[in-house]
Amino acid sequence: MTTELICWEALDAAHPSMAQARRLFEATQPPDEQIPWEWISGAVGRRKDWRPGRWATHLHLAAPRGAAKEPESVVGFANSLHLPGYGGYLTYVGVEPAARGRGVGARLVRLAVKALQVDAWCEGGDLPFVVWESRPPAPGEDASAWRAKLGLWRRVGARWVSGLVLHATNYSRPDAPPLRLALFLLPAARPAESFDDAALREVAAGLLSEVYDCEPGDERHAASLPPDRVLRLRPAEEAEGVVW
Ligand SMILES: CC(C)(COP(=O)(O)OP(=O)(O)OC[C@H]1O[C@@H](n2cnc3c(N)ncnc32)[C@H](O)[C@@H]1OP(=O)(O)O)[C@@H](O)C(=O)NCCC(=O)NCCS
Repeated sequence: MTTELICWEALDAAHPSMAQARRLFEATQPPDEQIPWEWISGAVGRRKDWRPGRWATHLHLAAPRGAAKEPESVVGFANSLHLPGYGGYLTYVGVEPAARGRGVGARLVRLAVKALQVDAWCEGGDLPFVVWESRPPAPGEDASAWRAKLGLWRRVGARWVSGLVLHATNYSRPDAPPLRLALFLLPAARPAESFDDAALREVAAGLLSEVYDCEPGDERHAASLPPDRVLRLRPAEEAEGVVW
């Protein structure tokens, strides 16, 4: 682990590093997958009032180590949530193009997982897993960003949930058709072998309910979890050739 990179949790929504984080968020995340930045900065502002029983939200930032009094120059961020009774949910990771390929993304994801483990402990249990979704490239679309993501997920030990196409609300355009997303899962306290088809269906249904307010009976729920599919944990890189 490099000590030339420092990471910390943003706790002051008005701090100048938040403007840098916002620029990075808006520059690195596909527009149709972005939530309004105010949702993220608002959660930073409310962080100090968090208590177990509620979603615990984190915005972790990374910067090169500078002199003690120099302002930081943010080169990466990770946004994550602990959902009590469910598990961890990584929402966004972004790294400045010039700083990529040097372990910043992996460091931020690992740090987020540790923070989510602390949240689970605050609740009185262990963190079973962390999940996140991502949109694969459409046929003909440039696949380089997808390859970089899969490289990162592989590096941190996450698996792809094959057989699942999550139909998720497009929060940037709620009237648009649902986003069709792939799901990735990083086992934490719960062993990878225990995630069979039934367990993965529960994970997906839990995410749809917790994050997308989508319950059984809803069209998006039915489209995400048709009974004839078998869900399996596969190595993350196997998602590379998948036709979406
Ligand atoms: C995905 C992203 C966060 C990776 O950040 P990063 O700091 O470059 O990642 P790391 O340097 O920690 O690399 C982690 C692993 O991914 C692999 N990887 C990184 N970029 C890659 C690329 N372009 N192609 C293939 N593999 C890549 C690395 O090889 C590394 O594995 P290794 O250590 O075994 O070699 C960065 O590319 C990015 O910000 N992309 C745009 C935003 C995005 O897609 N975010 C993710 C979804 S929210």
